[in-house]
Amino acid sequence: MSRSLRLATNLARHYPWVTTPFIVSAPMRVMSSPSLAVAVSNAGGLGFLGPGVKTQDIHKDLEEISTLLKTNTASANTNSESLPVGVGFQLWSDDVTVGIAAIERYKPCAAWLYAPHNTDTDYDHWARQIRRVSPHTHIWIQVGSLAEATALLSASEKPDVVVVQGAESGGHGRETDGLGLITLFPEVADAYADSGIPLFAAGGIADGRGAAAALCLGADGVVMGTRFLATPEARISRGYQNEIVRASDGAASTTRTFLYNQLRGTVGWPKNYSPRTIINQSYRDHQAGVPFEELKRLHDEALQAGDDGWGPEGRLATYAGASIGLIHGVKDADTIVREVREQVLEKFAPVGKSKL
Ligand SMILES: Cc1cc2nc3c(=O)[nH]c(=O)nc-3n(C[C@H](O)[C@H](O)[C@H](O)COP(=O)(O)O)c2cc1C
Repeated sequence: MSRSLRLATNLARHYPWVTTPFIVSAPMRVMSSPSLAVAVSNAGGLGFLGPGVKTQDIHKDLEEISTLLKTNTASANTNSESLPVGVGFQLWSDDVTVGIAAIERYKPCAAWLYAPHNTDTDYDHWARQIRRVSPHTHIWIQVGSLAEATALLSASEKPDVVVVQGAESGGHGRETDGLGLITLFPEVADAYADSGIPLFAAGGIADGRGAAAALCLGADGVVMGTRFLATPEARISRGYQNEIVRASDGAASTTRTFLYNQLRGTVGWPKNYSPRTIINQSYRDHQAGVPFEELKRLHDEALQAGDDGWGPEGRLATYAGASIGLIHGVKDADTIVREVREQVLEKFAPVGKSKL
């Protein structure tokens, strides 16, 4: 049996409701809501709940997910051992005790770990505790460089799935050693050839073309974040969502900068991470040399303006990926998953679905 077929069989056993190709919605902090995660899983993908403002918030969100799944008869309910959604954690800020208690109680099928302060110890620490309280919960770890990926191969608690995040991605990613998916992914795949660990691709994928390309690079599945911000299910302000739909040309209209974290007062991210965001007036003024205190004052004023705080002349953080030029409207998460799946299957039709 080929490597990809063996891994696909194992994934199908753990995620029996998921349809080929394996499509995942990323755990975007706060924005990946219970209804988004459930809609993606019900469409035959795997939806992840995002980390909360406080770790404690995921208890309420997981409770809501349990209720949504009970009242829904769609395919995601087929696995009785665990909840057919995953949950994301930012290790640098999330409280491990609170997080583990939520996993023990709700038994999500997967836990996605990202951004530890100490890569040598934090992943192992979380993974060991998760496996102790919920042996069926798969450990997913997102990395953005070859060095991070290869370090995991000698971890004592190996991940069940590794997500390779390209520099195109929205939200936080590698600040100095990131690389585009088309070169990063195959090099990681070579390093993982004998590992038995499935690799998922994230960063810049917003439609079936990107998803098919990632599968051609050797991905066992694809992750989309920014695309799912333009859904009715996302927990996002209308002004922010309008920007995801309006903006185009990711090279010109997005950048990686720490400015918005500073304006928002978000401190403590581990070194070598910075977020990709849509450029607006705060960034342009910053480039023009306006002092931080003035930027902060204008930012806080914009916070009071509701949806008008976003937009080309707006001042609020608008974290999003380089794929924004591919997103032209708000669509149900269910529609996105089904469309991307169909587009991929169409592209692979001449060579046969078994290649996926
Ligand atoms: C608004 C936003 C918030 C995000 N928050 C998180 C997070 O809390 N944890 C995490 O592991 N990844 C987070 N990500 C990154 C995603 O996991 C994923 O790598 C990224 O969305 C993929 O790129 P794409 O946005 O181009 O699809 C976030 C992405 C976005 C756009």
